[in-house]
Formats: sequence, C-alpha cells, structure tokens
Amino acid sequence: MKQRAAVGWRFGVVVAFWLAGVVSPQETEPPPEATITELMQAMVIPASNKLFDVPRNVPQDDSGWDAVRNSAVLLAESGTLLMRDGRAEDSDVWAATSRALAEAGEAALKAARARDVEAIGEAGNLLIDACERCHEKHWIR
Ligand code: HEC
Repeated sequence: MKQRAAVGWRFGVVVAFWLAGVVSPQETEPPPEATITELMQAMVIPASNKLFDVPRNVPQDDSGWDAVRNSAVLLAESGTLLMRDGRAEDSDVWAATSRALAEAGEAALKAARARDVEAIGEAGNLLIDACERCHEKHWIR
C-alpha cells in the first residue's frame, strides 16, 4: 500500500515534468545550427563534386582514395543531418530523398573502400537522383 503510493507519487512527478516540456524528446539534443544552404555548401556540394569527378579523374594513390572515401562519409551522414528535428521539412519527399542521399553515400563508401570506379559512378547516379527529387519539391527559386 505504502509502496504503491510512492510509485504513484514518482509517476506524478515524471508526468508533471513531461507536461512542462522538461523531459520532452526535443529537449534531449540541441537544435541544429547550420541552415540547409550552409549544409549544402559545407558538405553536400563539395562531397558530391568529388565523387562525380572520380570516373574522369581516377585517384592514383592511397591519399587520393582516402579523399574519395571521406566525401562518401560526408554524404552518407548528411542524409541523417537533413532529417533532424528543426531542419527536416514535413514531407514524404524530404524523408525519402534524405534517406536516398544517405544510401547513395553508403554505396559510394563501399565503392571507395573497394576502389571500384564503376561502382562510384553508379552511386553518383543514385546521388543525382536524390538531389534532383528533393530540389524539385523543396528548393523554391
Ligand atoms: C532532402 C532535400 C535535399 C537533398 C537530398 C539535397 N538538397 Fe540541395 N538543397 C535543398 C534545399 C531545401 C535547398 C535550398 C535552401 C534554401 O534556399 O533555403 C538546397 C540548395 C542547394 C544548392 C544551392 C546552394 C546555394 O548556395 O544557394 C545546391 C547547389 C544544392 N542544394 C546541391 C545539392 C546536391 C548536389 C545534392 C545531392 C548530392 C543535394 N543538394 C541534395 C534540399 C536538398
């Protein structure tokens, strides 16, 4: 009896904090700082240009392939950054194309580790598709 009352009391406190927004999920991580344009310019654009260039300009040594792999990492992770609360647009296209960007980046990462130029080219085609499908709906020019 006594124990149940104690549990009820603790539950009440948790609910009160929750209602006050103190432990709401959004509060657990800081809001994103960079704008979409900044994210495009810092990560997405240079990293995708690096990958698009590989078939014409095949890396000749370890450091060249490391740079390609680093760009693939940036693209794979930028999909997740585009999906963050406070940045993501509330649309199916946004969700699908952010995921497609991450998947294209992951395909490029595998290809970079294997130093497979043809597979980088295929990942590049997936990338272009993801960029274009998102911009078509969300980039108002
Ligand atoms: C999930 C959506 C999304 C994806 C995927 C995406 N973009 Fe963007 N991009 C945007 C939005 C939104 C803007 C416009 C931001 C604004 O003007 O506020 C933008 C802007 C840009 C710009 C203009 C930047 C500037 O300086 O004004 C370029 C270039 C660009 N994106 C390139 C790319 C490339 C390359 C890819 C794929 C490798 C890509 N984007 C993938 C949403 C996306």
